Amino acid sequence: MTSRVSEPGVLVIFGGTGDLARRKLIPALASLAAGGLLHEAVQVLGISRSREHDDDSYRDLVRRACVDAGRADAIDPARFHFFSMPGGTPEEYQGLADRLGTLRSENELPPRHAFYLALPIAAMGKTIEALGAAGLAHAPDGGWTRIVVEKPFGHDLDSARALVDTTRRHFEETQVYRIDHYLGKETVQNLLAFRFGNAIFESLWNRDRIAAVEIMVAESVGVGDRGDYYDASGALRDMVQNHLAQLLTLVAMEVPPVIGAESVRYEKTKVLRSIAPITSRDVVFGQYAAGTIDGEAVPGYRDETGIDAGSTTETFAALKLEIMNWRWQGVPFYVRTGKRLPRRLTRIGVRFRSSPVCMFEHEGVCHVSSDVLILTLQPDEGFSLHIDVKKPGSLQELQRIPLTFRYRDQFDGLPDAYETLLHDVLEGDQTLFVHSEEVLESWRLLDPILADPPVAHPYKGGTWGPEAAAGWTLGEPALMREGR
Ligand code: BG6
Repeated sequence: MTSRVSEPGVLVIFGGTGDLARRKLIPALASLAAGGLLHEAVQVLGISRSREHDDDSYRDLVRRACVDAGRADAIDPARFHFFSMPGGTPEEYQGLADRLGTLRSENELPPRHAFYLALPIAAMGKTIEALGAAGLAHAPDGGWTRIVVEKPFGHDLDSARALVDTTRRHFEETQVYRIDHYLGKETVQNLLAFRFGNAIFESLWNRDRIAAVEIMVAESVGVGDRGDYYDASGALRDMVQNHLAQLLTLVAMEVPPVIGAESVRYEKTKVLRSIAPITSRDVVFGQYAAGTIDGEAVPGYRDETGIDAGSTTETFAALKLEIMNWRWQGVPFYVRTGKRLPRRLTRIGVRFRSSPVCMFEHEGVCHVSSDVLILTLQPDEGFSLHIDVKKPGSLQELQRIPLTFRYRDQFDGLPDAYETLLHDVLEGDQTLFVHSEEVLESWRLLDPILADPPVAHPYKGGTWGPEAAAGWTLGEPALMREGR
């Protein structure tokens, strides 16, 4: 996100009264306004099927969402408007076009529209078609039209391809902003800065110097009230296809010529294309059973609301991947994610190769430990580089110590991912959005597993997942899961 004020225009939110709008989008707009980053002429048009709302009641909803997010009075609710589309008919889309025209002339705005589809997947394709059919996909000279799409981008390769095709029929790729909210996180963007802003690391970032990489997104929460959605998805679709695939590409990509949408997204796509086909031997699935987290009893997955008593859906997935290119061939990339693990923790660990000979020997034990870099993406963001120092007093005894950086020691808080992403949509910067080729490549990789999924091993809530995946790590459980 730049520190520039955004361009003026109208942000149209389909699903404008929904959970995402209330919890994330409205508070993010409020924060941008408070920080002076939202152009003061920007207007927001919330859309839903509801016939209950009008401008006034929608502004009440906006006020409440801001208060709940601790952003009371950060944005003038009069900038929010409401439009009801109960049937999604062509007449309603014509009505939408008219309403946009009125909003623009009342606020002296250029024809610039961003359509944010905060909608369930079933409504996505239809809405894109309808916008195109209503002539809303393109703006006259001096204007722009952008479309913002939330995950899931399909359910498998075929449905993703159908969605991409529908989108391409009406919108150019340069108009499409596919959100993976992980890319909006500061620490995820910092992967680019860490690698390409520090020549010291980039020169080590290859198979000659790195022995293994682990990417872990652990959650202590269960499925909550999203049982219906989750039971039809599972961890592979919900987390691996998007968030973990994105983290992997940022860790493994080649150096782009510049940090810009075209080159970064091209390099990320190349990583996905270089991953060796995944077989069921490379995947472990798990499903949480009842357990205890932080001293509190938690139910098993099959006892959660909306979950079938015989469900086989995975709530944990671990994968062992190999990237078949000159930089990474032979380096295992362990990717793992799960719900109801002991704590919320997103980390990337890199184990460097150990020294080639033993030079330090203490009490008959040869010391050849390898250095480890741990990037903590959330919570308590930062990183630590674990290296050896000589223990005072003995020439032979070494001890591993961390060189640590914490965001909270240096900076006053981090912006929420949606602030960054909404600002970038209004600015027209696609660097942090997912290209259609990335979507298709990641589904292509996972499709064979989806077609023939391994059995999900039960694991107790509050543990780190099934035993079968215990060995698929960097080999540094204490560094990946505890402290820094
Ligand atoms: C969402 C998934 O995309 O990401 C959720 O659907 C998951 O199941 C969430 O809990 C995790 O996001 P974060 O930002 O809390 O790590």
